[in-house]
Amino acid sequence: MTPSDVKATLSFSDGSPSMDLPIYKGTIGPDVIDIRKLYGQTGKFTYDPGFLSTASCNSTITYIDGDKGELLYRGYPIEQLATQCDYLETCYLLLNGELPSGKEKEDFTHLVTHHTMVNEQMQFFLRGFRRDAHPMAILTGLVGGLSAFYHDSTDIHNAEHRAISAIRLIAKMPTLVSMAYKYTIGQPYIYPKNDLSYAGNFMRMMFATPCEDYNPNEVLVRAMDRIFILHADHEQNASTSTVRLCGSSGTNPFAAIAAGVACLWGPAHGGANEAALNMLEDVQKMGGVEKIGEFIKQVKDKNSGIKLMGFGHRVYKNYDPRAKLMRETCHEVLDTLGLHDDPIFKLAMALEKIALEDEYFVARKLYPNVDFYSGIVQRAIGIPVSLFTAIFALARTVGWIAQLNEMIGDPEYKIGRPRQLYNGAAQRNVKAIGERD
Ligand code: SDX
Repeated sequence: MTPSDVKATLSFSDGSPSMDLPIYKGTIGPDVIDIRKLYGQTGKFTYDPGFLSTASCNSTITYIDGDKGELLYRGYPIEQLATQCDYLETCYLLLNGELPSGKEKEDFTHLVTHHTMVNEQMQFFLRGFRRDAHPMAILTGLVGGLSAFYHDSTDIHNAEHRAISAIRLIAKMPTLVSMAYKYTIGQPYIYPKNDLSYAGNFMRMMFATPCEDYNPNEVLVRAMDRIFILHADHEQNASTSTVRLCGSSGTNPFAAIAAGVACLWGPAHGGANEAALNMLEDVQKMGGVEKIGEFIKQVKDKNSGIKLMGFGHRVYKNYDPRAKLMRETCHEVLDTLGLHDDPIFKLAMALEKIALEDEYFVARKLYPNVDFYSGIVQRAIGIPVSLFTAIFALARTVGWIAQLNEMIGDPEYKIGRPRQLYNGAAQRNVKAIGERD
């Protein structure tokens, strides 16, 4: 961190002693005011529920400029990575800080490929669930359960354990997600096939059956790989912050990632792609494009509790760059499948156009985010809506791991332990039960 020449001075109107606070500059983006000594010197906490003005860490992994709609993984624009690289190159970049050479990519791919199977006992884990269990409920259990199989690599402070756990998690998430899917449709699990690409292997484990050969459509495989790249990391979002806080206790990597899966499930976060598609289908049932005006009116009515799912973002106050790329992928996939007249896609584009021109959304800087189009692409590929967030979790696993490893590797890190503003009852004494009102 680079100290700024500028200091912040905190002074109090009641004449309490003022305090100078150091300011640090990053490579790009907002400076930070270092308040670590604030409580020790003033006996006061800062107050920032939802962390709208709080930097929780010093990171070198992902940078977002919400006003410009920019997203960089290790300095590379998402638009270049999504069009010039594949997901495993992006994983290597996020984990190691640099894009791999040809040899490094070959070695990394070989390593990941040869860790894609899970212990045969995992299938019995699934049997405890009802067949109609939500895939995210199953995935949360499976990922946490992985820690029971790798006692040889659960010491988060051991760099070798962190490295092998990263490979195991990246390699096994497609297998676990496809197992969760196959379980819910009563089909047998499909084992990984080592001569397929990462995304191709996932598509085969999802859609193949033992009854016939399955050769994934290369356009769809590329679309799946792009979905993985676009969802790989996103700075200190809710689930990444959950993984950091969970991992800060020293728990094993599998448990910390399982906490991230659980957090991502929420409809305000990773569950939004499932919610966005359900919303589009609801509007379609209401009457489609003709009924958009009526639906938008409901969204504007605070009492309706209805939000335009797939719109808005805590950081992006401009178009989410991932949404633009996802919309392009939508066109490619729907054209490949001969679905360019897909009514849901047409409805989505009409809804987006209206929202982008409507003062209510413009005033609140509500633009489509990554979740608005990702559901349409996945639905066209044949992925059930209930699996969308599990695929988001699959893709985000590498980002969670990279962020967790960065924290654990920082000699300054401590267990995360926020404080509070207390407004509960002041101290009082217990009365015998007979004396209580
Ligand atoms: C992801 O953080 C990340 O990086 C997340 C993510 C990642 O990659 O990890 O990008 C992935 O989670 C994307 C976001 C997916 N969520 C959704 O699409 C759900 C719908 N969006 C909203 O719930 C909301 O926009 C949030 C949660 C995404 C952001 O909420 P904020 O920043 O807390 O903003 P807010 O709720 O305070 O909204 C500001 C105003 C409010 O109106 P007023 O009180 O000012 O009148 O905008 C309104 C909100 O009511 N608003 C919406 C809206 N989002 C915000 N109104 C209608 N529809 C919406 N989608």
